[in-house]
Amino acid sequence: MRFAIVKSAAELGERAFYEIKCVLKAKPDAVIGFATGRTPLPLYEKMAADHAKNGTSYKRVTAINLDEYVGVEAKDKNSFARFMKDNLFSKIDIDPANTNIPNGMAEDLEAECVRYAKFVAEHPADIQILGIGANGHIAFNEPYTKYDTTTHIALLTAKTRSDNAEGFGSPAAVPSYALTMGIKEILSAKKILMLASGEGKAEAIYNMLQGRDDTSCPAAALRSHPDVTVVLDEAAAKYLAFDEWAKIARTAESAAPAAPVTAEKEPPAAPVAPAKEEEAAAPAEETAPVAEVAEVAEDGAPAEDKPEETVEETVEEAPVEETAPAEDEKVYLEAEIIEDDEAEEESAPIVIEEPTRGKKKKGRKNKTLSGV
Ligand code: GLP
Repeated sequence: MRFAIVKSAAELGERAFYEIKCVLKAKPDAVIGFATGRTPLPLYEKMAADHAKNGTSYKRVTAINLDEYVGVEAKDKNSFARFMKDNLFSKIDIDPANTNIPNGMAEDLEAECVRYAKFVAEHPADIQILGIGANGHIAFNEPYTKYDTTTHIALLTAKTRSDNAEGFGSPAAVPSYALTMGIKEILSAKKILMLASGEGKAEAIYNMLQGRDDTSCPAAALRSHPDVTVVLDEAAAKYLAFDEWAKIARTAESAAPAAPVTAEKEPPAAPVAPAKEEEAAAPAEETAPVAEVAEVAEDGAPAEDKPEETVEETVEEAPVEETAPAEDEKVYLEAEIIEDDEAEEESAPIVIEEPTRGKKKKGRKNKTLSGV
């Protein structure tokens, strides 16, 4: 699981768009799973702006949405169908015939779930965009939903109805039921892009990563997925002990790491080409926003708590050159978390990106804190 911490809604939109653009470049006829809610709006704004400016095409894209309220017509301002049309689909060149959302007005809701589940199974998402509810829900999979669910009728919690009341006037006016893709279907996406912003999501994000190993936080199901990128603002990331991880990564970066962590400089086996100037100058959406990598224990514990830990550091010979920071320059620091138990070691690592501004470095350093 990879975490990117951003400083603004605009940056969240840009960072998320980078993921979408990568998928589209590789596969112009990609299946994209879309989410509703306030959180993905900066992404949708960026997609619309990019389409207008650069002509990025969605003509061959298939869109599959996660969920819809029961009893709300598509043309109603509170429907998710209308949300998608107003905020994205009408602003890009996607074919409306290629957009899909469960029909919450279906006479036979069970049959509609079966129809949608079949469609989802036949069109696995190349990337699934997700938001998260304050109670950890994904789509409308509320706490204690089983991980093996497919599209179903969900009973919404009071918390969700209250959080989603804007537009309906009051929590009581929010439908009690929704049709939602199930957790199993969400996990079947090849890539998952989870977005969260604001302090109200901080606890859910913490539970997703470090909470109980049960179904109390549906988003925790994402821990088992091999390719998840989580883009968060600092408020949503506030319980992630991110400062501790960043400190560990920075310690590894310095020439003299804090005792008792021992540092060994590995002579590079073969000379590695320094980063190309043009790579550094490429626009954000064209360049993988990754500069440095450090691996730390999943529990975020400081390195000194792990007696057998060692620091391995590989530094390229290219001199580090400091220049005045460009206004829009971003340097990303990554902390990669190694799973404790052997079985989990095979799953995808957890990675933290921290956007910082400041020193521009030539060359690239690869650092590893390991030994768990
Ligand atoms: C709804 C949607 C979810 C969404 C959540 C959070 O409940 N079903 O898909 O993630 O709202 O919405 P927001 O981004 O507005 O906080």
